[in-house]
Amino acid sequence: MTGAFGCIGAWVVRGLLASGERPVAFDLGDDPWRLRMLGGDDVVGRLTIVRGDIADREAVARVVGEHGVRRIVHLAAWQIPLCRQDPSRGALVNVVGTANVFEAVRAAAGRVERVVYASSAAVFGPPSAYPPGPIRDDAPPRPATHYGVYKVANEETARVYWEEHRIPSMGFRPLSVYGPGRDFGLTADPTLAMKAAVLGRPFRIRWGGGTDLIYVEDVARALLAAAASRLDGARVYNLHGASARIADVVGLIEAAWPAARGRLGHVEEPIPFPDALDDTRYQQDLGPAPPTPLADGIRKTLDEFCRLQEAGRLDARELA
Ligand SMILES: NC(=O)c1ccc[n+]([C@@H]2O[C@H](COP(=O)([O-])OP(=O)(O)OC[C@H]3O[C@@H](n4cnc5c(N)ncnc54)[C@H](O)[C@@H]3O)[C@@H](O)[C@H]2O)c1
Repeated sequence: MTGAFGCIGAWVVRGLLASGERPVAFDLGDDPWRLRMLGGDDVVGRLTIVRGDIADREAVARVVGEHGVRRIVHLAAWQIPLCRQDPSRGALVNVVGTANVFEAVRAAAGRVERVVYASSAAVFGPPSAYPPGPIRDDAPPRPATHYGVYKVANEETARVYWEEHRIPSMGFRPLSVYGPGRDFGLTADPTLAMKAAVLGRPFRIRWGGGTDLIYVEDVARALLAAAASRLDGARVYNLHGASARIADVVGLIEAAWPAARGRLGHVEEPIPFPDALDDTRYQQDLGPAPPTPLADGIRKTLDEFCRLQEAGRLDARELA
């Protein structure tokens, strides 16, 4: 697994440990605090941790070779704010990094069965770029950010590795992932608002309009199902959670956590991504996997933050 210390990575690790696997966690970070937050202090002893940079081709090939890796879940990436700040390094991590993963698979000469990776709904542009209604998997990519451009490149890289080398892959396009462990990136604000609610602090979500919010555990479930699948080709799937307006998300948080009323808000400034995704193809190939309803996901997130807060384990450094 690459990016195993990240938000989605921590949930995938949790799922793998629950099914008795011992994952190899490759990440550049030196503090797996999200893993500990979600899985407890002993979690680190239950996996093999390899610190390394996805942009380092030899390091990636080495970890795949030395650990006899058979399936890869590739999540290491820079998110939108970092790609915007430094597009060159962003391309190195996101585009070259993904090519390095596929090269390592090629070098392993058939031992690695498949690559599962996170693309993003940022491959699509704003709703105004498309006919009305949820965006289907085969809608044309119109990325509005460098990050989205890099994700298009990842999908095309995967396609060419299938066509030229028969390496099967599955990529997934979530949009606004929320839930425990989400703390960084443009679309982290709804989760930060939930954390602020539990901590009794004010918080203003820095954007608005509509978005497609998916509970992080649902994303991990898709990645795990893909890793266990035997379907071939270079497949890419939209993921859908719940389409909602940010104003309504604030209302749902306040309804579930009445003490937060009046402390939360948002800026009515849309972000340049779709507000609704169609996941029919994912449901057909790997489902049925009904998404967590938004009110339930918010409740679960608040409950988990509350539990962590009471145990003195709630990491809130991003709210400082
Ligand atoms: N969070 C979302 O809303 C969302 C939406 C769509 C797609 N995605 C994609 O899902 C994947 C995981 O997202 P996340 O929210 O868990 O991100 P995250 O930022 O929480 O985690 C990313 C992880 O990758 C690691 N990493 C960064 N650069 C690295 C490098 N050069 N070498 C090795 N490791 C490196 C980081 O240390 C971190 O642990 C990413 O590919 C992201 O683009 C996320």
